[in-house]
Amino acid sequence: MSISPESDEIKYAKGLEGVIAAISGISFIDGDQGILVYRGFSIETLAKHSNYEEIVYLLLHGELPTRPELEELTNKLKEYRTCEALMPSIRSFPKDAHPMDVVRSAVSLMGIYCPDKFDFSKEIKMQKVLRVVAKLPSIVASYDRIRKGLEPIEPDNSLNHAENFLYMLNGEKPDELSAKIMDIMFILHADHGMNASTFSAMVTISTLSDVYSSLTAGIGTLKGPLHGGANERVLKMLREIKSVDNVKPWLDEALEERRKIMGFGHRVYRAYDPRAKILKKYAKQLGEQKQGDLLFEIGEKVEEYMLEKVGAKGIQPNVDFYSGIVLNHLGIATDVFTPIFAISRSAGWGSHILEYLESNRLFRPRAIYNGPYHQEYIEIENREGE
Ligand code: ACO
Repeated sequence: MSISPESDEIKYAKGLEGVIAAISGISFIDGDQGILVYRGFSIETLAKHSNYEEIVYLLLHGELPTRPELEELTNKLKEYRTCEALMPSIRSFPKDAHPMDVVRSAVSLMGIYCPDKFDFSKEIKMQKVLRVVAKLPSIVASYDRIRKGLEPIEPDNSLNHAENFLYMLNGEKPDELSAKIMDIMFILHADHGMNASTFSAMVTISTLSDVYSSLTAGIGTLKGPLHGGANERVLKMLREIKSVDNVKPWLDEALEERRKIMGFGHRVYRAYDPRAKILKKYAKQLGEQKQGDLLFEIGEKVEEYMLEKVGAKGIQPNVDFYSGIVLNHLGIATDVFTPIFAISRSAGWGSHILEYLESNRLFRPRAIYNGPYHQEYIEIENREGE
């Protein structure tokens, strides 16, 4: 039986707002207080004391690793960094492809080339997640170089995850500050509760599909401008605004036209996104080092005016607002911002799908049917327009 719009059988929540779809011990968000916690550790503590490899372990295993456990995970990630099987495809992709499309397609291809593709054991699933986490930086960096007419660079296993990514991207070892900031960028983006891309990955795994299909779904979902794709739009917006003086007239016009301001608003946060707070500090620091670069100043003015205009509605900067400014200062191309988000989030997606499989149940919501009933079937020759 279908559900009619009048039915009170099921409560309808547009965009699944407020719907509880799973029980998870991975990350917690208090949107009113602006708190984000991974496995009980605040994001501020982790950004200050931890590193991305440790976060991958923490998210996947539920506790901080001992030194040998961290070493084992780090060695696995290093072992999986190369992606020879994918390189002919990555080289053949059009040079004008969006890097997020490359990332999505490459992870999908990993499912074809994976030596253990038909092994669905728990242990191998974990390895598949680690393969994706390890290979994503190589995929992003290699494609970025290939499209610029440069040769991809082999990973350097003396470098950590963040350092190696910057090295493979730029062809030279990064300075300490850039490597630290990239590591923090990876820490901050690694997980965020039941967000759209995580849910997407979970829906796919709930059919007992495979890890690669599930992570490919997550990547496709992250790409959208209402989700991870907002960071590259923020930079485009700041460039379009051009000057501090133009902030108010530009925003007035955009808000008047009811356009969404990228990098603002969140389904869960009504308070300031704690990740944006951390990134703002680095955006400021890097902005001060680059004389004549107005991006941070324009950004800060946008924040100030947005809070004045719509802050009372709980519309505050989200993680994507300052991440673009930071990445731009690190010399990273705008369309590589969301792939960097995906590199990091792969650990969160992986953790959630493995956790969900522990007590899997197929996701299958319903819709309120508002189409017609009892239509009379008319043979094609008798339909109007024949
Ligand atoms: N700019 C202007 N107004 C906004 C914004 C914004 N960025 N975000 C929300 N609003 C307004 C809406 O116009 C709406 O106003 P109304 O009640 O007067 O109609 C109200 O706030 C509620 O907005 P919704 O879109 O219904 O909120 P929802 O929870 O569905 O959307 C979302 C959340 C998609 C993040 C939204 O705030 C948005 O589009 N932001 C811009 C894109 C963005 O930055 N996305 C990144 C999010 S963080 C992440 O995914 C990593």
